[in-house]
Amino acid sequence: MSDEETDSRSVALIIFLILITGVLVAGDSLDTDRDVLLNLKSFLEETNRVNQGGYSQWNGHSPDSPCDWPGIICSSNNATTRVTGIKLPNRQIAGEIFGNFSLLSELSHLDLSKNTISGMIPGDLSLCRNLYLDLSSNKFSEELWNGFPRLLKFSVSENHLTGPVLSDLFTENCSLKILDLSENVFIGGVPVEISKCRNLEILNLAGNNFTGKIPAEIGSISRLEALYLGSNNFSSVIPDSLLNLKNLTFLDLSKNNFGGDIQKIFGNFTQIRFLVLHGNSYTGGIKSSGILKLPNVLRLDLSYNNFSGSLPIEVSEMPSLIFLILAYNQFSGNIPSEYGNFSRLQALDLSFNRLNGSIPPTLGKLSSLLWLMLANNSLTGEIPLELGNCTSLLWLNLANNQLSGKIPPELTNIGRNATATFQTNIRLSTRIIAGSGECLVMKRWIPADYPPFSFVYNILTRKSCRSIWDRLLQGYGLFPKCVAGSSVRTFQISGYLQLSGNRLSGELPPDIGKMQNFTMLHLGSNDFYGKIPPQIGQMPLVVLNISRNNFLGEIPKEIGDIKCLQNLDLSWNNFSDTFPASLDRLTELSKFNISYNPFISGTVPATRQFATFEKDSYHGDPLLQLPKFMDNSTDDSPKSMARKPKRRTKWAEFLAILTKILAFLIAAILLVMVFLLVLSAIVLIKI
Ligand SMILES: *[C@@H]1O[C@H](CO)[C@@H](O)[C@H](O)[C@H]1NC(C)=O
Ligand SMILES: *[C@@H]1O[C@H](CO)[C@@H](O)[C@H](O)[C@H]1NC(C)=O
Ligand SMILES: *[C@@H]1O[C@H](CO)[C@@H](O)[C@H](O)[C@H]1NC(C)=O
Ligand SMILES: *[C@@H]1O[C@H](CO)[C@@H](O)[C@H](O)[C@H]1NC(C)=O
Ligand SMILES: *[C@@H]1O[C@H](CO)[C@@H](O)[C@H](O)[C@H]1NC(C)=O
Ligand SMILES: *[C@@H]1O[C@H](CO)[C@@H](O)[C@H](O)[C@H]1NC(C)=O
Ligand SMILES: *[C@@H]1O[C@H](CO)[C@@H](O)[C@H](O)[C@H]1NC(C)=O
Repeated sequence: MSDEETDSRSVALIIFLILITGVLVAGDSLDTDRDVLLNLKSFLEETNRVNQGGYSQWNGHSPDSPCDWPGIICSSNNATTRVTGIKLPNRQIAGEIFGNFSLLSELSHLDLSKNTISGMIPGDLSLCRNLYLDLSSNKFSEELWNGFPRLLKFSVSENHLTGPVLSDLFTENCSLKILDLSENVFIGGVPVEISKCRNLEILNLAGNNFTGKIPAEIGSISRLEALYLGSNNFSSVIPDSLLNLKNLTFLDLSKNNFGGDIQKIFGNFTQIRFLVLHGNSYTGGIKSSGILKLPNVLRLDLSYNNFSGSLPIEVSEMPSLIFLILAYNQFSGNIPSEYGNFSRLQALDLSFNRLNGSIPPTLGKLSSLLWLMLANNSLTGEIPLELGNCTSLLWLNLANNQLSGKIPPELTNIGRNATATFQTNIRLSTRIIAGSGECLVMKRWIPADYPPFSFVYNILTRKSCRSIWDRLLQGYGLFPKCVAGSSVRTFQISGYLQLSGNRLSGELPPDIGKMQNFTMLHLGSNDFYGKIPPQIGQMPLVVLNISRNNFLGEIPKEIGDIKCLQNLDLSWNNFSDTFPASLDRLTELSKFNISYNPFISGTVPATRQFATFEKDSYHGDPLLQLPKFMDNSTDDSPKSMARKPKRRTKWAEFLAILTKILAFLIAAILLVMVFLLVLSAIVLIKI
């Protein structure tokens, strides 16, 4: 055998071995961890042939591998480095779960949440010695895995697990601090043995079909801080023992079909800071239960019940109240002027009731108020100019009432500076995990149908509602906005002014241009008249809807300066003069309607975004000259539908390109590997 032959044989052997070791592994070192991960990678690639996530970039060659692979966390101890964490949340992973995680003997943190992994939770996980574990928001089914009480944190929320939770799952040495079984289909009673988990701080059983009594034994878990029992069918008798839980700050008993009066026991939970009782069928007991005397309650949520009669005045004396949520009841009568006395109130949500009378001017004293939600009542009278003193007020929704009169110029001062309130919240922020009711509230507080906010709806899960809520409260913007004349975007907070569906009239105050924190202005279906002040062009708007009013005169050309405008509805007004060519500068515009303005004339541009709108945007505008391309198409012909360009955001385009490049690279790498494997095998055989 020549040297050359020996050389090529050993090279081939090495390549062969490198490629083959990915399959045969066991042992305890970073190298074996890497091999297990490569196994995991091929397992994931096998079960997910499209939409492969970051794990497809796991490959062996850099000196820091596998610690520099996306989603992999390593820790060093006594000069040995090992894989201790795998984070693959929201990676579109489907199929069953990998069955060999226990081969990563130092794994302590495994997060596979927000995928669509199905099947059973494997016994293999019981062999992991130091795990944490987050399997929430998947499609796991069948029964609960019996290894969980040995963990510190176990979350399987938002899966399809069923059956009763058996008492023998809970052993004396249960070490759980956080147990989250929420949003599954568990049935039957909660076993009293759950109290063997003496270290529990957070117990979340919400969103199942648990029945029977709440076990009195829960009252002996002295470290318990948060107890989520909402959306179940518990009996309405709440055990007294829960009053012993000195650390309990969050109590959620929403949606349990409780009716009649609020149980008296709630008035004794003096330690509670969050009391969440929405979605029951209570009719009374707000006063008699004593809850209005609770000294520490920050959030009181009694929405979606059947309360009627007048709003309780006593609530205004609750010293700690920050969120008062009484929406979706049948409260009637006036809003008490005492509601201006809450010194710390940040959200007042009285929407969807039967309130009448006018908005009390005392609400102008609420200097910390961020949200004022009074939509869908029968409020009358004018908007009090005192509201302009609410310098934190960023989200004002008065839609669908019978308010009349002008917009007071003072109102343009709202939301000017909410910094002080946001600072308070940054200091206050609790570590309470995703709670209950946030999604319901977010849907009411964030207007779903409008572009700046609508994206939120696609990502609403229990956790995301909570984090969006937290971010809003601390003053972080949810989406980039840009100020007049500029397309530079910044993540600043974006407020809205929602006044549609009233009888408001008069002209818009020119000071509206000062509302620099507002991205949505919805004034539709009112009786506004007069010219639109050109200052509107100074607002950083994304949505401007002034449809169904009596605005007249020319459409201010300054609207063309609102660089980030996406949705402009001018329909059903009485605009005249010529169509402002400046609108052509609105490169983000994706919805446009100027229908039923019979006196508008001039020529509609045929370029940029205006090449994408159809005749449907120009109904009932006989004097308007439409672009030529519309001549031989009718609104609903398949041809015109097909031609309508689909708008994709730059980000989505970027992602699509990136995905293609990645797919190409992976395919190329795979091809080279197969080629090398075959080549080395051939060489080996030949030699
Ligand atoms: C787990 O490891 C064994 C060998 O230890 C192997 O036979 C099996 O295919 C592996 N399972 C997965 C899902 O990779
Ligand atoms: C403690 O947990 C182990 C499992 O790690 C179990 O085998 C053992 O029976 C438990 N001990 C008690 C006293 O429950
Ligand atoms: C919940 O449990 C009750 C009583 O066991 C049963 O009648 C009901 O159908 C269950 N509901 C669901 C949604 O499984
Ligand atoms: C809100 O009020 C408007 C107008 O009064 C009405 O059309 C709408 O149905 C109401 N919405 C709900 C959810 O009640
Ligand atoms: C504008 O508001 C009106 C109601 O006032 C509504 O019917 C219309 O759909 C809104 N336009 C857009 C584009 O959302
Ligand atoms: C609409 O505008 C036209 C032209 O400016 C004017 O003659 C007419 O009176 C206006 N109609 C209403 C109802 O304001
Ligand atoms: C514009 O408004 C008119 C009248 O409300 C409506 O019929 C039409 O469908 C709307 N067009 C678009 C593109 O939304």
